[in-house]
Amino acid sequence: MTTTNDAGTGPDVAVPAPNPRATKEQVEAAMQDTKLAQVLYHDWEAETYDEKWSISYDQRCVDYARGRFDAAVPEQVQRELPYDRALELGCGTGFFLLNLIQAGVARRGSVTDLSPGMVKVATRNGQSLGLDIDGRVADAEGIPYPDDTFDLVVGHAVLHHIPDVELSLREVVRVLKPGGRFVFAGEPTTVGNRYARELSTLTWRIATNVTKLPMLSDWRRPQTELDESSRAAALEAVVDLHTFDPADLERMATNAGAVDVRTASEEFTAAMLGWPIRTFEAAVPPGRLGWGWARFAFSSWTTLSWVDSNVWRRVVPKGWFYNVMVTGVKPGGPSS
Ligand SMILES: C[S@@+](CC[C@H](N)C(=O)[O-])C[C@H]1O[C@@H](n2cnc3c(N)ncnc32)[C@H](O)[C@@H]1O
Repeated sequence: MTTTNDAGTGPDVAVPAPNPRATKEQVEAAMQDTKLAQVLYHDWEAETYDEKWSISYDQRCVDYARGRFDAAVPEQVQRELPYDRALELGCGTGFFLLNLIQAGVARRGSVTDLSPGMVKVATRNGQSLGLDIDGRVADAEGIPYPDDTFDLVVGHAVLHHIPDVELSLREVVRVLKPGGRFVFAGEPTTVGNRYARELSTLTWRIATNVTKLPMLSDWRRPQTELDESSRAAALEAVVDLHTFDPADLERMATNAGAVDVRTASEEFTAAMLGWPIRTFEAAVPPGRLGWGWARFAFSSWTTLSWVDSNVWRRVVPKGWFYNVMVTGVKPGGPSS
């Protein structure tokens, strides 16, 4: 596959072929090599990722993405949109940037990821939405774009996969234009990750055991798929590298050279419901639950998120919420 390249960095860039079916030997090698694990795990997930995580490019996810952006950045910034040129790191299927472009946050963008499979799906998603985007395989620790290229850099659920987060944030600051902003959302806090994992493990055990009952056999995924999931899940421990305390994330962004750094956190009871729901969705055959379920899951999540922001936020420390987001600015812009 070849992608367009409007970065001014040379000819179009060939994207390596995705490898969705890792061999046993590759999985073993990946146990010692976190970046190989990222590629194998996310190539394996790419074509089914949107369905697994109920990701869509309609108003539901446009509002969700815009809501995370607005929760992170000051109101003044929200009034001055759109940014012209945006970059997404660890784009996956393009969930964050494609929906942010649709939400009016940026005019055009580059979706990048370490996994060729993800870049392929994100580029395809962006093209089918008719958006002005290009895609490229890129490591967030060495972003292949020149200094001062982008007005906005975003990422969702990516920082916790990157070995040296501060190095990556330094790269982000480098490729931003002076005055440009970054927004990273959807990162797990240390406390939130603990309760989310325990609830997910419990849900997986219950779902895969209960569906052994003959009357629930329609709800059981074929054993080969469950075995494949378990093999891939073994890689999850290798790909999930960090959880964050909000203060540590602020310190890393400041050390990387950013100014106006701030963090916000969200999802407390919403995460306690959301993780079992997502795990259940992965345990049953794809498509079995349908969009009615997706709407139910989303509206429950929205209700509990409201309770979290309006009730729990007053009594629970920032670091106990599941998701933390961080934003900051490259110094030297017009207003500094
Ligand atoms: C949890 S997924 C999130 C995908 C997408 N941002 C979303 O929220 O749906 C993390 C993504 O980060 C990518 N990734 C992991 N390490 C990376 C690195 N060093 N540089 C760039 N992308 C990376 C993975 O391949 C994967 O697609």
